[in-house]
Amino acid sequence: MSTKKTVIVYQRALKPDLREKLERDCHVLDFSQTQNLTEDGEFKKALSQAHGLIGSSVNLTPELLDQAPNLEVVSSISVGVDNYDIDYLSKRGIVLCHTPDVLTETTADTAFLLILASARRAVELAEMVKRGEWTGGIAEPQFGVDVQGKKLGIVGMGRIGAAIARRGKFGFNMSVSYHNRSRHEDFERELDADWKELDDLLRDSDFVCVTVPLSDATRQMFGQREFELMGKDTIFVNIARGGVVDEPAMIEALQKGTIRAAGLDVFTTEPLPNESPLAHMDNVVALPHIGSATHETRYAMAELAVDNALAVLEGDKPKAPYNWDALDR
Ligand code: DGY
Repeated sequence: MSTKKTVIVYQRALKPDLREKLERDCHVLDFSQTQNLTEDGEFKKALSQAHGLIGSSVNLTPELLDQAPNLEVVSSISVGVDNYDIDYLSKRGIVLCHTPDVLTETTADTAFLLILASARRAVELAEMVKRGEWTGGIAEPQFGVDVQGKKLGIVGMGRIGAAIARRGKFGFNMSVSYHNRSRHEDFERELDADWKELDDLLRDSDFVCVTVPLSDATRQMFGQREFELMGKDTIFVNIARGGVVDEPAMIEALQKGTIRAAGLDVFTTEPLPNESPLAHMDNVVALPHIGSATHETRYAMAELAVDNALAVLEGDKPKAPYNWDALDR
């Protein structure tokens, strides 16, 4: 690049080597430590100069991005793209990039962490130990349920869903079924997995694990009816987005024992407000959206996001564009 283009880094700080890589070709404006970004006057001013944005977890509305007339690329440090108006970006010819693949295995680990912790009541019982209340042998009131050999139902069979299914099938001898808009015969063969209608999957699974992206089609897809279909022995695990669940209906189902327990990495409002019953219930394992949050994986995601942005700004096709085919350029 002859004249340096301007890139804003927001919400996620880059490691020094990645920042240096970006600075070799670009003028970098760092808003990674700015709270309430969308209200920040300096950020809005910076947008007017920006050719690229790298970050995540902020809803970048069209109204906000209208203030960035030179924008060529939004490079999200996430696989999910629910924070962006894809039609708007495509119409403006702005490339949206994301970070698939590099987080698949780590996110599948998080799903299994939630499956095991919920089934064996690991958090609730560890807290009992911390309070000094482990005063005798553990008996039936503290027993959990087995994971191995049980029925795992996965809603959304993409890369992450398949990685969870492999853990269940090969690590825990579980039988796997899945619901997805389209069938994946390769997964079915590899994992001996059955495609099921959603209602059948909910009725038949011991563990229901949600991995669908948030979209108009999946918003609030789990409500009272779906929790009633699952039944009192089912454990519900959500590593997708809080918005796919009707949260008050889930809280009621957990309080009434309509389902056994939930393992949750995502919530309608994040950070989860302390007033939410989900933060305090014994049959809920609530994690602070750590799906991909390991040193290795977050580095790999940031690296891919930087490479994606640089490629677009240099006029090349990035490794992981999300809207390439829809671009109006
Ligand atoms: C993702 O990459 O979409 C994770 O959920 C982090 O936002």
